[in-house]
Amino acid sequence: MDPTPLDAGSASRVRALLPTLCDPDASFGEAHAAVQALHRELAAVTGIVGIEDEATHGEGTRLPGGKAISPAHAAQCLRETTRTVKFLRGVESALRDLAARVEGPVRVLYAGCGPYGTLLLPLAIRWPAERLQVTLLDIHEQSLESALRVAEALGVADRVAGSVRTDAATYRTEVPFHLAVSETLAQGLRNEPVLAILRNLWPQGAPGAVFLPERVVLSFVLVDMSRQMALMTNCPEPVARDHYPVVLDCGTVVEVSREAAEAWQEEPSWDGTGQAIRCPTLVWPADACPERSAQLIARVHIHGGIVLEHRESSITHPWIPTWGRDARPGARIAFQYVLGSRPEALGRLL
Ligand SMILES: C[S@@+](CC[C@H](N)C(=O)[O-])C[C@H]1O[C@@H](n2cnc3c(N)ncnc32)[C@H](O)[C@@H]1O
Repeated sequence: MDPTPLDAGSASRVRALLPTLCDPDASFGEAHAAVQALHRELAAVTGIVGIEDEATHGEGTRLPGGKAISPAHAAQCLRETTRTVKFLRGVESALRDLAARVEGPVRVLYAGCGPYGTLLLPLAIRWPAERLQVTLLDIHEQSLESALRVAEALGVADRVAGSVRTDAATYRTEVPFHLAVSETLAQGLRNEPVLAILRNLWPQGAPGAVFLPERVVLSFVLVDMSRQMALMTNCPEPVARDHYPVVLDCGTVVEVSREAAEAWQEEPSWDGTGQAIRCPTLVWPADACPERSAQLIARVHIHGGIVLEHRESSITHPWIPTWGRDARPGARIAFQYVLGSRPEALGRLL
């Protein structure tokens, strides 16, 4: 799809969506309609639609810390309603907290802005340039060019401090930022480089800097398949919260947060690809039903109590590991989180 000529109406149409996008009390239907309208607007501005656009879909880029998904795939992320509104609300809440204690502009590093700058540029409409300056960063030139076009279309180009094409996992900032935002996450904390990026950025913030997401927790859970099936067939949407009774949480495999990182210890990875973070050994309780399925699932603590819960998005959808097929009640499973270009949690039955 070709981008449409810039239209002075874009900014006001997106501004009109912000109250719903940022309202925690909006219904799912209202939020969904607002997210789809935002997507239509930004797809028209950029000409990048999403993964149905075979021509621009591409493979993405495999980096030393994980995969940077393609611009079209990154555009697609906007369309996940709950993910997008929860992240937008988290960013808005972080900006408000920071504006209360930072004089002058709140400096934001948007590490992995994608082609729409989804999590910052629409919000920037409500923040004057004197109070917000965003550095857009992405490994894909097409995404940066596209996000700059969005900034122009939304009338927020003066809130963009610069754009940097580089790997966020090795980037060195010249001016410390107050807020770093990086939604570089995928199902089961696999494949995408959020850990490598945050680990690189944590020491580079200004004093009191905020990082978003603030915490990602990957858990080993058991799911009762037959009760899940009953719920899925009988319950109206949204079902995410209704899954809790059928999930038994066996413990945290790895937590990605600045605090947890202080205790990380590295060891050689079992697959021989490099280094890994040592994780605890967890147990499938001996008295838990054998009909359960072993799964890894992430919960994303975005900011200020805003949490992307299990199954609310593709990011927080469970991953079913191959070792899980052989696991039975009473099993002890050792874990490690492999660093490098294919990050993932490995489990080994002891
Ligand atoms: C999941 S998409 C998110 C796009 C957008 N921020 C959003 O939330 O809708 C991740 C984006 O981060 C970029 N990215 C991933 N890893 C990166 C890295 N190590 N350095 C720079 N950009 C990266 C990808 O190219 C992609 O645009």
